[in-house]
Amino acid sequence: MTRLLLVYALLTGTIGFLLRPDEYSGNGETPTHWRGLASNMIKQKARLQLNVGVAKNVIMFIGDGMGISTVTAGRILKGQLAGQTGEEEYLSFENFPYTGLSKTYSQDSQVTDSASASTSYFCGVKANIGTLGLDGRSTRGQCSTQHNYEISSILDWSIAAGKSVGFVTTARVTHATPAGLYANIAERHWEGDIYTRNQTGGCKDIAAQLVDDYKQMQVILGGGREFFQRFDQMDPERGDNSRYGRRDGRDLIQEWKTGQHGLNRNSAYVWNETAFNQIDPTTTDSVLGLFEQSHMQYDYDRFDPRYEKAGEPSIANMTELAIKILSKNPNGYFLMVEGAKIDHGHHEGRAKLALYDVLAFEKAVDTADRITSETDTLTIVTADHGHTLSISGYPSRGNGIFDKVDTSLAQDGKPYTTLLYANGQGYRVHNGSRPDITNVDTTIDQYQQEAAVPLAQETHSGEDVAIYARGPMSHLLTGVHEDSNIAGVMAYASCVGAYSNYADCAASLTSG
Ligand SMILES: *[C@@H]1O[C@H](CO)[C@@H](O)[C@H](O)[C@H]1NC(C)=O
Ligand SMILES: *[C@@H]1O[C@H](CO)[C@@H](O)[C@H](O)[C@H]1NC(C)=O
Ligand SMILES: *[C@@H]1O[C@H](CO)[C@@H](O)[C@H](O)[C@H]1NC(C)=O
Ligand SMILES: *[C@@H]1O[C@H](CO)[C@@H](O)[C@H](O)[C@H]1NC(C)=O
Repeated sequence: MTRLLLVYALLTGTIGFLLRPDEYSGNGETPTHWRGLASNMIKQKARLQLNVGVAKNVIMFIGDGMGISTVTAGRILKGQLAGQTGEEEYLSFENFPYTGLSKTYSQDSQVTDSASASTSYFCGVKANIGTLGLDGRSTRGQCSTQHNYEISSILDWSIAAGKSVGFVTTARVTHATPAGLYANIAERHWEGDIYTRNQTGGCKDIAAQLVDDYKQMQVILGGGREFFQRFDQMDPERGDNSRYGRRDGRDLIQEWKTGQHGLNRNSAYVWNETAFNQIDPTTTDSVLGLFEQSHMQYDYDRFDPRYEKAGEPSIANMTELAIKILSKNPNGYFLMVEGAKIDHGHHEGRAKLALYDVLAFEKAVDTADRITSETDTLTIVTADHGHTLSISGYPSRGNGIFDKVDTSLAQDGKPYTTLLYANGQGYRVHNGSRPDITNVDTTIDQYQQEAAVPLAQETHSGEDVAIYARGPMSHLLTGVHEDSNIAGVMAYASCVGAYSNYADCAASLTSG
C-alpha cells in the first residue's frame, strides 16, 4: 500500500513537473508575466509628469450606482465576453493615471441618494437626501423651505466663464443626476408640473427650470418626454399620452425650439436614433434629444423590439455628438455624461442589466478619450454611490460571472451564485427555506440574484466609490475625498467659479 502511494506520488510529481510549463503557456501567466506587468507599470508611472495646466474642457462621467464591486464584476464580464477568464481585464478608465476614493454620505444620511449626491459633486456642498441644488438648510418635499438656500453648480460657473455646456444621460433629463447641474428644488420627484401645481410656495418644476432658465445649454440628451409635453399631446413613439404630461398648457419642446431660435442658433430636436444620426455637429449649435417617454432603455435591450420601438442612440454616440457640438467654442466646455441604467439594473436586482450598462458606459468614456486630449481636457469618471452587490464565495478562476459558485454548495446543500445582493426583490424563501437553483439558469438578463433582506427595491450602499481622473490637475483627486471636493477640483482646473481669479489659474493662463 505504502509502496503504491509512493509510486503514485512519484508519478504525479513527475507528471506535474513535466506539465507545469504547458500549464503556464495556457494563459501565459508565468512568474515572468506577473513581474513583467509590474515592471511595465513602473516604467510608465515613474515617468509621469504632473499636468498642472488649465483644463479648457471638463468632462465628468457619472456611472450611477457604479460602486467598486460593480466595476470589478463589469471588468470580469468584459474579459469573459472577449473569451478570457476575465479577472485580469481592465475597464479602460481604470487605466487613467490617477485614482482616488470618494466618501458619498449626505448631510442627513449615511447612505446617499442621487439627488443629494449630484448636489454635492456638482455644487460642492453636501445636502439633504432628495433635494437638488439647495444647501442643507432646506427640507425635502417642502417647497417653502427652498428659497434662499439655492446654490450654484459647475455648470453655472462654466457658463459664466463663457464656456459651452451640456449633458447626456440615459435617464430622464429631469432625473436626479442631471438635475443637480441646473435645478434648485426641494423634491427630486417634482420633474413636471403635475407634481408642483399643488404645492404652495411657488416652486417651479424641474423640466420648466431647464427650459426657462438654461437656454444656454447646448446639449440635452436623454429620456423623459413626458414632463415636456402637454398631457393631451400624443407621444410619437408610444402612441399614447402620459398621465404625467403637463397640465399648465405648456409644450416645452416647442418652447425650447423657439428659445433657441431666439438665440440665433441652428438647433435640432430629435426623439429617435435615425433623426439623431442625421444631425451634423459642424452646423448644429444646440440639440435636445428626448428618446423615451420616461427613462431610456437598458443598453442590453436597445435593439429588442419588445422594449424599443423607434430606436435610440447609444450613450457612446450621444457623447460623441455632444463633444463635437460643444468643442466648437474656443473657450472650451463642460460636459456631464451619466450612465444611469447601471443604477436601474441594480435597483431591480438584475445584475446582468446593470453590468452590460457598465460596458456601454465604458464605451462612452473611450469615445471621449479618442476625440479629446489630456493636455487640455480634464476627464473624471466616478459614481454617486454604490449598490449592495457582492462578489463572493470561491468560484474558480474564469467561472462565469453570472454563474453559480462552481467549487462548493451552501450549508443547505444547494448552489448559490457568485453575485448576490444584500437586499431587494431577490429575497426568496419557499416552504421555509432557500429555493434550490440547481436547475435555474442564472445567466439570463431577467434573473434576480438572491438577496438577504426583502425590499421592494434593492438599495444604494454607503461605502466609498472610486474616482478615476486624467488631464489637467487630475492628480488632485488622488487620496480619500469628500464627494463635494470634486466640484472644487473641476472649478480650479478649469479656472471657473470661485477659482476664476485664482492666482495659479491666472498664472497658468498667461504662461500657457
Ligand atoms: C392636485 O390637485 C388636483 C385638484 O385639487 C387633484 O385632482 C390632484 O390629484 C392633485 N395632484 C396631486 C399630485 O396631488
Ligand atoms: C424619427 O423621427 C422623425 C422626425 O420626427 C420621423 O420623421 C421618423 O419617422 C422617426 N423614425 C422612426 C423610426 O420612428
Ligand atoms: C453609433 O452610430 C453608428 C451609426 O452612425 C453605428 O454604426 C454604431 O454602431 C453606433 N455605435 C454604438 C456604440 O451604438
Ligand atoms: C416543505 O418542506 C417540508 C419539510 O422540509 C417537506 O416535507 C414538504 O414536502 C415540503 N413541501 C413542499 C410543497 O415542497
